[in-house]
Amino acid sequence: MISPNLYKNGRTYDFFMKALGYEGSIDRFLDHLEIDCRPECSILDAGCGTGILGLHFLERFPNSSLHATDIEVGFLRATLANAHRRDIDRHRVTIGVGDISSPHCWTSEEGTPETFEDGSFDLICLGAVIGYASDREASLRQLVQMLSPGGYLLNIEMNESLTGRLVSNRYRYRNISLERMKHVIRQEGCELMSTPLRIQHLPAKLTRTAIVARKLV
Ligand SMILES: C[S@@+](CC[C@H](N)C(=O)[O-])C[C@H]1O[C@@H](n2cnc3c(N)ncnc32)[C@H](O)[C@@H]1O
Repeated sequence: MISPNLYKNGRTYDFFMKALGYEGSIDRFLDHLEIDCRPECSILDAGCGTGILGLHFLERFPNSSLHATDIEVGFLRATLANAHRRDIDRHRVTIGVGDISSPHCWTSEEGTPETFEDGSFDLICLGAVIGYASDREASLRQLVQMLSPGGYLLNIEMNESLTGRLVSNRYRYRNISLERMKHVIRQEGCELMSTPLRIQHLPAKLTRTAIVARKLV
């Protein structure tokens, strides 16, 4: 089986996401997702990995801007390389090192500590990262607080199937149940939308599930 260090290396992860068809299946899922942000929306992809989620929405919303954070610098570089590959203007992407345990805090490329304000994002994308937080619920609550009124939260989370649990276990990822996540998100003032991954979203469907929530105005 693939080494757990896969999640430490942006280039290798990128290679496997593409080669195994994961990236394509997530893109197909995102293509049909109804998220109606204004064209100039502000997007956060926290624990961005290779940027699959955030870059998709940068392409969808023509004047949008993306903050991409990750704990590993190599993944931030992979996100920039993918932005370049997708012909996305470099000025639309800001990268920074950030720990999902304190999602408000990040360090810029110049090494300056920065803070995201509450209510500052129209769309927050997460993919298999909450399980790395020291307190998963607290992290999720803080992320929801960073949404503007009417803003969207998308979480393409590890699922609770056998394959989802096996992969999580392999990568030392601490799953949070879908029900628990929904409870926390509702408590923070969001409505939830149903968005199952279907057969056409294989192979991502084997290990991932999705939540879309909208912050009430
Ligand atoms: C499974 S990958 C998911 C990447 C991307 N979100 C996706 O859906 O393809 C997990 C990512 O979380 C990052 N990560 C791990 N621990 C983290 C932490 N404590 N804070 C922020 N990012 C973290 C890893 O570096 C990696 O990029």
